[in-house]
Amino acid sequence: MNVQATPAVKAQPKTQPNTQTITGVTHYTDRLFSFRCTRPASLRFRSGEFVMIGLMGDPDPVTGRQKPLLRAYSIASPSWDEELEFYSIKVPDGPLTSKLQHIKEGDEIILRPKPVGTLVHDALLPGKRLWFFATGTGFAPFASLLREPQTFEDYDEIIITHTCRTVGELTYGRDLIEGLKSNELLNEVIGEGFWKKIKYYPTTTREESPKMGRITDLMRSGEAFADLGVEPLCAQNDRAMICGNLAFNLELKDMLEDFGLVEGANSDPQTYVVEKAFLD
Ligand code: A2P
Repeated sequence: MNVQATPAVKAQPKTQPNTQTITGVTHYTDRLFSFRCTRPASLRFRSGEFVMIGLMGDPDPVTGRQKPLLRAYSIASPSWDEELEFYSIKVPDGPLTSKLQHIKEGDEIILRPKPVGTLVHDALLPGKRLWFFATGTGFAPFASLLREPQTFEDYDEIIITHTCRTVGELTYGRDLIEGLKSNELLNEVIGEGFWKKIKYYPTTTREESPKMGRITDLMRSGEAFADLGVEPLCAQNDRAMICGNLAFNLELKDMLEDFGLVEGANSDPQTYVVEKAFLD
Protein backbone atom coordinates (compact mmCIF):
# COMPACT_ATOMS: atom_id res chain seq x y z
CA MET A 1 0.00 0.00 0.00
CA ASN A 2 1.28 3.33 -0.96
CA VAL A 3 1.09 5.46 2.13
CA GLN A 4 1.38 9.09 1.31
CA ALA A 5 3.10 11.31 3.78
CA THR A 6 0.60 13.55 5.50
CA PRO A 7 1.30 17.12 4.46
CA ALA A 8 2.64 19.13 7.35
CA VAL A 9 -0.25 21.02 8.94
CA LYS A 10 0.65 24.58 9.72
CA ALA A 11 0.30 25.07 13.47
CA GLN A 12 -2.84 27.11 14.20
CA PRO A 13 -2.36 29.97 16.60
CA LYS A 14 -3.76 28.74 19.90
CA THR A 15 -6.80 30.84 20.72
CA GLN A 16 -7.25 31.45 24.41
CA PRO A 17 -10.53 29.84 25.47
CA ASN A 18 -13.03 32.24 26.97
CA THR A 19 -11.09 35.36 26.23
CA GLN A 20 -13.22 38.51 26.25
CA THR A 21 -12.50 41.99 24.91
CA ILE A 22 -12.50 45.09 27.09
CA THR A 23 -15.03 47.65 25.87
CA GLY A 24 -14.46 50.42 28.43
CA VAL A 25 -12.55 51.33 31.59
CA THR A 26 -13.36 54.00 34.22
CA HIS A 27 -10.96 54.99 37.01
CA TYR A 28 -12.56 56.43 40.15
CA THR A 29 -9.64 56.85 42.52
CA ASP A 30 -6.06 55.64 42.69
CA ARG A 31 -7.50 52.51 44.40
CA LEU A 32 -10.67 51.79 42.41
CA PHE A 33 -11.76 51.27 38.81
CA SER A 34 -14.47 49.54 36.82
CA PHE A 35 -14.41 47.97 33.38
CA ARG A 36 -16.75 46.43 30.87
CA CYS A 37 -16.10 43.58 28.46
CA THR A 38 -17.86 41.48 25.88
CA ARG A 39 -20.10 38.70 27.18
CA PRO A 40 -19.92 35.17 25.81
CA ALA A 41 -23.26 34.30 24.21
CA SER A 42 -23.37 31.11 26.26
CA LEU A 43 -22.88 32.79 29.65
CA ARG A 44 -26.05 32.73 31.75
CA PHE A 45 -25.89 33.95 35.34
CA ARG A 46 -28.13 35.21 38.13
CA SER A 47 -27.64 38.83 39.16
CA GLY A 48 -25.33 38.87 42.21
CA GLU A 49 -23.15 35.91 41.18
CA PHE A 50 -19.39 35.92 40.60
CA VAL A 51 -17.02 34.39 38.04
CA MET A 52 -13.27 33.87 37.78
CA ILE A 53 -11.52 36.43 35.59
CA GLY A 54 -7.90 37.33 35.02
CA LEU A 55 -4.89 37.70 32.78
CA MET A 56 -1.94 35.56 31.77
CA GLY A 57 0.76 35.66 34.45
CA ASP A 58 4.43 36.44 33.88
CA PRO A 59 6.43 33.73 32.05
CA ASP A 60 8.02 31.14 34.36
CA PRO A 61 11.75 32.04 34.53
CA VAL A 62 12.75 28.41 33.83
CA THR A 63 10.16 27.02 31.43
CA GLY A 64 8.98 30.30 29.93
CA ARG A 65 5.41 29.01 30.32
CA GLN A 66 2.65 31.40 31.29
CA LYS A 67 -0.25 30.40 33.51
CA PRO A 68 -3.53 32.24 33.84
CA LEU A 69 -3.81 34.38 36.96
CA LEU A 70 -7.47 34.23 37.96
CA ARG A 71 -9.48 35.71 40.83
CA ALA A 72 -13.14 35.67 41.83
CA TYR A 73 -14.98 38.82 40.77
CA SER A 74 -18.64 39.63 41.31
CA ILE A 75 -20.36 40.49 38.07
CA ALA A 76 -21.50 44.09 38.57
CA SER A 77 -23.77 44.14 35.53
CA PRO A 78 -27.27 42.65 35.65
CA SER A 79 -28.21 39.34 34.03
CA TRP A 80 -29.96 41.10 31.11
CA ASP A 81 -26.98 43.25 30.07
CA GLU A 82 -25.34 42.28 26.79
CA GLU A 83 -21.91 43.14 28.21
CA LEU A 84 -20.26 42.29 31.54
CA GLU A 85 -19.11 44.87 34.08
CA PHE A 86 -16.66 44.46 36.97
CA TYR A 87 -15.61 46.77 39.79
CA SER A 88 -12.11 46.33 41.13
CA ILE A 89 -9.59 47.50 43.65
CA LYS A 90 -6.01 48.27 42.56
CA VAL A 91 -3.48 46.72 44.89
CA PRO A 92 0.02 47.98 44.00
CA ASP A 93 1.67 44.61 44.72
CA GLY A 94 -1.38 42.47 44.01
CA PRO A 95 -0.48 39.70 41.56
CA LEU A 96 -3.53 40.34 39.39
CA THR A 97 -4.77 43.86 40.08
CA SER A 98 -1.31 45.43 39.67
CA LYS A 99 -1.63 44.36 36.01
CA LEU A 100 -5.40 44.54 35.61
CA GLN A 101 -5.48 48.23 36.54
CA HIS A 102 -3.63 49.00 33.28
CA ILE A 103 -6.13 47.33 30.93
CA LYS A 104 -7.67 49.48 28.24
CA GLU A 105 -10.32 49.23 25.56
CA GLY A 106 -9.49 46.48 23.05
CA ASP A 107 -7.37 44.43 25.49
CA GLU A 108 -8.37 40.88 26.32
CA ILE A 109 -9.13 39.25 29.66
CA ILE A 110 -9.67 35.63 30.53
CA LEU A 111 -13.09 34.63 31.83
CA ARG A 112 -14.10 31.24 33.22
CA PRO A 113 -17.81 31.23 32.50
CA LYS A 114 -18.93 29.30 35.57
CA PRO A 115 -21.01 31.72 37.63
CA VAL A 116 -21.63 30.87 41.31
CA GLY A 117 -22.52 32.69 44.52
CA THR A 118 -24.95 33.16 47.35
CA LEU A 119 -25.90 36.83 46.91
CA VAL A 120 -28.89 35.85 44.81
CA HIS A 121 -32.62 36.24 45.30
CA ASP A 122 -33.03 32.46 45.30
CA ALA A 123 -31.11 32.19 48.59
CA LEU A 124 -33.56 34.44 50.48
CA LEU A 125 -37.09 33.75 51.68
CA PRO A 126 -39.74 36.27 50.61
CA GLY A 127 -39.70 39.49 52.65
CA LYS A 128 -40.78 43.14 52.61
CA ARG A 129 -37.53 45.07 52.99
CA LEU A 130 -34.16 44.19 51.47
CA TRP A 131 -30.86 45.47 52.91
CA PHE A 132 -27.65 45.59 50.89
CA PHE A 133 -24.65 46.06 53.22
CA ALA A 134 -21.37 46.84 51.40
CA THR A 135 -17.88 48.11 52.05
CA GLY A 136 -15.50 49.18 49.28
CA THR A 137 -15.71 47.00 46.16
CA GLY A 138 -18.29 44.86 47.95
CA PHE A 139 -20.78 47.13 46.22
CA ALA A 140 -20.26 45.18 42.95
CA PRO A 141 -22.89 42.42 43.36
CA PHE A 142 -25.39 45.07 44.45
CA ALA A 143 -24.66 47.06 41.29
CA SER A 144 -25.92 43.97 39.51
CA LEU A 145 -28.92 43.37 41.77
CA LEU A 146 -29.96 47.04 41.71
CA ARG A 147 -30.37 46.77 37.94
CA GLU A 148 -32.33 43.53 38.24
CA PRO A 149 -36.12 44.09 37.98
CA GLN A 150 -36.83 41.26 40.46
CA THR A 151 -35.24 43.30 43.26
CA PHE A 152 -37.98 45.91 42.94
CA GLU A 153 -40.73 43.45 42.12
CA ASP A 154 -40.08 41.33 45.22
CA TYR A 155 -39.57 44.08 47.84
CA ASP A 156 -41.35 47.24 49.01
CA GLU A 157 -38.14 48.91 50.14
CA ILE A 158 -34.42 48.48 49.34
CA ILE A 159 -31.89 49.97 51.76
CA ILE A 160 -28.28 50.23 50.59
CA THR A 161 -25.50 50.99 53.04
CA HIS A 162 -22.03 51.57 51.63
CA THR A 163 -19.06 52.30 53.90
CA CYS A 164 -15.82 53.43 52.26
CA ARG A 165 -12.63 55.07 53.43
CA THR A 166 -13.01 58.21 51.30
CA VAL A 167 -15.67 60.20 49.47
CA GLY A 168 -14.18 59.33 46.07
CA GLU A 169 -14.64 55.64 46.84
CA LEU A 170 -18.40 56.17 47.00
CA THR A 171 -18.59 57.54 43.44
CA TYR A 172 -19.21 54.28 41.57
CA GLY A 173 -22.15 53.35 43.79
CA ARG A 174 -23.58 56.85 43.97
CA ASP A 175 -23.49 57.30 40.17
CA LEU A 176 -25.03 53.89 39.65
CA ILE A 177 -27.93 54.59 42.01
CA GLU A 178 -28.49 58.02 40.45
CA GLY A 179 -28.44 56.43 36.98
CA LEU A 180 -31.28 54.06 37.88
CA LYS A 181 -33.78 56.92 37.68
CA SER A 182 -33.25 57.28 33.93
CA ASN A 183 -32.77 53.58 33.15
CA GLU A 184 -35.28 53.02 30.36
CA LEU A 185 -35.52 49.27 30.71
CA LEU A 186 -36.16 49.37 34.47
CA ASN A 187 -38.70 52.19 34.19
CA GLU A 188 -40.53 50.24 31.51
CA VAL A 189 -40.41 46.82 33.17
CA ILE A 190 -40.99 47.82 36.81
CA GLY A 191 -42.84 51.09 36.32
CA GLU A 192 -41.95 54.79 36.51
CA GLY A 193 -40.64 55.89 39.87
CA PHE A 194 -39.53 52.39 40.93
CA TRP A 195 -36.35 53.95 42.29
CA LYS A 196 -38.33 55.65 45.07
CA LYS A 197 -38.18 52.30 46.87
CA ILE A 198 -34.45 52.90 47.43
CA LYS A 199 -32.92 54.37 50.58
CA TYR A 200 -29.20 55.01 50.17
CA TYR A 201 -26.90 55.42 53.18
CA PRO A 202 -23.28 56.15 52.22
CA THR A 203 -20.70 56.63 54.99
CA THR A 204 -16.97 57.32 55.08
CA THR A 205 -14.43 56.47 57.75
CA ARG A 206 -11.24 58.28 56.79
CA GLU A 207 -12.41 61.44 55.05
CA GLU A 208 -14.93 64.08 56.03
CA SER A 209 -18.39 63.54 54.51
CA PRO A 210 -22.02 64.25 55.52
CA LYS A 211 -22.16 60.89 57.36
CA MET A 212 -19.06 59.48 58.94
CA GLY A 213 -18.47 56.15 60.66
CA ARG A 214 -18.65 52.42 60.13
CA ILE A 215 -22.17 51.18 59.42
CA THR A 216 -21.77 48.59 62.17
CA ASP A 217 -21.17 51.31 64.78
CA LEU A 218 -23.94 53.49 63.35
CA MET A 219 -26.40 50.60 63.62
CA ARG A 220 -25.29 49.65 67.11
CA SER A 221 -25.90 53.20 68.35
CA GLY A 222 -29.23 53.36 66.50
CA GLU A 223 -28.06 56.40 64.53
CA ALA A 224 -28.37 54.67 61.14
CA PHE A 225 -32.01 53.70 61.77
CA ALA A 226 -32.85 57.20 63.00
CA ASP A 227 -31.16 58.81 59.96
CA LEU A 228 -32.99 56.48 57.58
CA GLY A 229 -36.27 56.87 59.43
CA VAL A 230 -36.79 53.11 59.61
CA GLU A 231 -37.35 50.50 62.29
CA PRO A 232 -34.41 48.23 63.20
CA LEU A 233 -34.32 44.89 61.40
CA CYS A 234 -36.79 42.14 62.21
CA ALA A 235 -36.65 38.58 60.96
CA GLN A 236 -40.24 38.61 59.77
CA ASN A 237 -39.92 41.48 57.27
CA ASP A 238 -36.23 42.04 56.63
CA ARG A 239 -33.88 40.26 54.26
CA ALA A 240 -30.21 41.17 53.93
CA MET A 241 -27.17 40.62 51.77
CA ILE A 242 -23.65 41.39 53.01
CA CYS A 243 -20.56 41.92 50.87
CA GLY A 244 -17.40 43.51 52.15
CA ASN A 245 -14.08 42.82 53.80
CA LEU A 246 -13.81 39.84 56.11
CA ALA A 247 -13.90 41.71 59.44
CA PHE A 248 -16.97 43.65 58.31
CA ASN A 249 -18.76 40.51 57.14
CA LEU A 250 -18.16 38.74 60.45
CA GLU A 251 -19.20 41.69 62.57
CA LEU A 252 -22.35 42.29 60.58
CA LYS A 253 -23.27 38.59 60.53
CA ASP A 254 -23.27 38.63 64.34
CA MET A 255 -25.40 41.77 64.38
CA LEU A 256 -27.95 40.35 61.94
CA GLU A 257 -28.17 37.15 63.96
CA ASP A 258 -28.82 39.24 67.07
CA PHE A 259 -31.77 40.69 65.14
CA GLY A 260 -32.95 37.10 64.59
CA LEU A 261 -31.93 36.71 60.94
CA VAL A 262 -30.56 33.34 59.77
CA GLU A 263 -27.91 32.72 57.13
CA GLY A 264 -29.23 31.19 53.91
CA ALA A 265 -27.79 29.46 50.88
CA ASN A 266 -28.96 28.42 47.44
CA SER A 267 -29.96 25.04 48.79
CA ASP A 268 -31.50 26.49 51.96
CA PRO A 269 -33.06 29.95 51.52
CA GLN A 270 -33.21 31.94 54.77
CA THR A 271 -33.20 35.60 55.80
CA TYR A 272 -29.66 36.81 55.05
CA VAL A 273 -26.68 35.86 52.86
CA VAL A 274 -23.03 36.89 52.89
CA GLU A 275 -20.06 36.89 50.52
CA LYS A 276 -16.51 38.19 50.83
CA ALA A 277 -15.59 41.04 48.48
CA PHE A 278 -12.70 40.26 46.18
CA LEU A 279 -9.30 41.47 47.43
CA ASP A 280 -6.12 40.80 45.54
P1 A2P B 1 -11.99 51.80 58.53
O1 A2P B 1 -11.44 52.91 57.67
O2 A2P B 1 -12.43 52.26 59.88
O3 A2P B 1 -11.10 50.59 58.57
P2 A2P B 1 -11.19 48.56 53.13
O4 A2P B 1 -10.99 49.55 52.03
O5 A2P B 1 -10.02 48.46 54.06
O6 A2P B 1 -11.67 47.22 52.66
O7 A2P B 1 -12.36 49.14 54.04
C1 A2P B 1 -13.56 49.59 53.48
C2 A2P B 1 -14.38 50.21 54.56
O8 A2P B 1 -14.82 49.18 55.46
C3 A2P B 1 -13.62 51.23 55.38
O9 A2P B 1 -14.42 52.37 55.50
C4 A2P B 1 -13.41 50.51 56.69
O10 A2P B 1 -13.37 51.36 57.82
C5 A2P B 1 -14.64 49.66 56.78
N1 A2P B 1 -14.49 48.53 57.71
C6 A2P B 1 -13.42 47.77 57.91
N2 A2P B 1 -13.65 46.82 58.84
C7 A2P B 1 -14.91 47.01 59.25
C8 A2P B 1 -15.75 46.38 60.21
N3 A2P B 1 -15.33 45.34 60.95
N4 A2P B 1 -17.01 46.85 60.35
C9 A2P B 1 -17.44 47.89 59.62
N5 A2P B 1 -16.70 48.53 58.72
C10 A2P B 1 -15.45 48.11 58.53
